[in-house]
Amino acid sequence: MGNHVLDDVIGWRDGHIIAIDQTALPHQLSIIRLSTVDELVDAIVRLVVRGAPLLGVAGALGVALAVRQAEREGWDASRLDAEVQRIADARPTAVNLRREVLAVAAVIPDGAAAVEAAARAVHDTAVKVSKRLSERGAALLVQECRTGPLKVHTHCNTGALACLGWGTALGVIRALRDQGALAHVIADETRPLLQGSRLTAWELAQLGIEHYLAADGAGPFLIARGQADAVVVGADRVAANGDVANKIGTYSLALAARRAGIPFVVAAPESTIDAQTPSGASIPLELRADEEVTSFQGVRAAPEGTRALNYAFDITPADLVTAIVTEDRVIRP
Ligand code: MRU
Repeated sequence: MGNHVLDDVIGWRDGHIIAIDQTALPHQLSIIRLSTVDELVDAIVRLVVRGAPLLGVAGALGVALAVRQAEREGWDASRLDAEVQRIADARPTAVNLRREVLAVAAVIPDGAAAVEAAARAVHDTAVKVSKRLSERGAALLVQECRTGPLKVHTHCNTGALACLGWGTALGVIRALRDQGALAHVIADETRPLLQGSRLTAWELAQLGIEHYLAADGAGPFLIARGQADAVVVGADRVAANGDVANKIGTYSLALAARRAGIPFVVAAPESTIDAQTPSGASIPLELRADEEVTSFQGVRAAPEGTRALNYAFDITPADLVTAIVTEDRVIRP
């Protein structure tokens, strides 16, 4: 693995999926092998493999995995269909997962080789798209801000780990740095599994990009104090009206950005835009286990019996979004 580019976040090797275990970073860079649908669904649910575009690639490869398992274990067509659906349903908010699972599943009648080729194509497209998106996003931010090197606030993890290639919001940040247009990054720690502290800080360090970590609740205040010239985030689903589902904590950054009069930009591939979902109200929001909030690193933090409201994502209404930048266009909701 190169120092600056994560080339093999996820891949297909000898009929199995190989992937970086994102729950082990930054302490360990370990590669896991997934051989069954059960193993893949478990990895998706536990955030071993995560981030909207990467979930799309995992879903695509998952169909190839299911076809191999069907051959090995003699599944009939309806069992294979049910297992493929299980992959699509593993996380409900990130539309890329369902989209790519269904796209690759449509090729099943053409045989295993065709399925594997279709899954590989999803992987290759994700890599290519992220660079175009990053460069377009950097150009947009420079144009929006019209100031010197930018201080950029971001949330969650949106780099190669989440997307392959350059990433979405983190790709935009990388492109800004490459142009000499970046001062530094402020990254939120991000719940539930500290994706910002563990993954974004690690990727930024790999890339040699100056950064500061902020506690999740600190973001709006830091923005109000003029600590950011712009906010850039990714998305798990963009509804047809421009409402954006992204990691819990995104909405408060958008409110703060509006109040401070700085741009709030969403960087996402076209495949994250869901024309079938009219608005944020109909985006399914993943509600995760209470223990992720009531415990810390496996040790109970809240009194026994405490319940949690552990939404993985929130919805930012379109009117708070300055622009959505994709590999093809800039959308101003
Ligand atoms: O729960 P996660 O870690 O999968 O959430 C990821 C995010 O919210 C990202 O911001 C999003 O997927 C957009 S870019 C990868």
